[in-house]
Amino acid sequence: MSKEENKLQHLAVIMDGNGRWAQKRGLPRSMGHRKGAEVVKEITRAAAELGIRYLTLYAFSTENWKRSKDEVDTLMGLLREYLKSDLKEIQEKNVRIRFIGERDMLAGDIVEKMAQIEADTANNTDMTLCIALSYGSRQEIVSAVRKTAALVKSGDISINDIDVELFSDMLYTQNMPDPDLVIRTSGERRISNYLLWQIAYSEFYFSDILWPDFTKEALENIIKDFNQRERRYGKA
Ligand code: FPP
Repeated sequence: MSKEENKLQHLAVIMDGNGRWAQKRGLPRSMGHRKGAEVVKEITRAAAELGIRYLTLYAFSTENWKRSKDEVDTLMGLLREYLKSDLKEIQEKNVRIRFIGERDMLAGDIVEKMAQIEADTANNTDMTLCIALSYGSRQEIVSAVRKTAALVKSGDISINDIDVELFSDMLYTQNMPDPDLVIRTSGERRISNYLLWQIAYSEFYFSDILWPDFTKEALENIIKDFNQRERRYGKA
């Protein structure tokens, strides 16, 4: 598929099924997450090749903190590896990295690295890779309400200034267009507290493929399906 054939500007993905992928092979869940992290790199590369401008990946939800300490440690370990890995390809492909989520829940060294990567890639313009980390959409909305209320309290805005645009700017995703398409892998059909405000008019695709088995080819087939859809945004 060429860049011209792809009509997707912002793709959001719920990467599900790492645990089941490992279980099916008699492997520990951690191996599923490890393979999943490799697929993150492959799909980022594929998205850049397809000319997708924004790719938002759900790497760790606020609810994921409730998993066993072992599993949380594995996921944080993989994340550290990812953050400390070579960013040469990201820079060469002109990719900007952004993180959304509750940073105060994360370890200090991870938060520091995140800020550094965001700064190092801030001027890259071909694609934005947005990683949702310790992310929960309801928490994001509550935090946006607090920021908005603080602006009213300080007198910087009046209540009547609050509209869809202003509120969107208070979210972690400020200045990003809404997702055109949300893909969830592994056959589950839920949104799981992901981008609730931003997906008002998004299309959805639920794939049965487990995330560690997800490929560029699978992505291209989903984009072909998306390209056929008629989006009306509530109009007749
Ligand atoms: C869902 O699988 C996946 C996650 C909870 C985390 C996604 C994380 C990765 C793909 C790897 C790390 C990411 C980066 C950016 C390095 P699950 O464990 O819920 O699978 P299951 O439903 O089959 O148990």
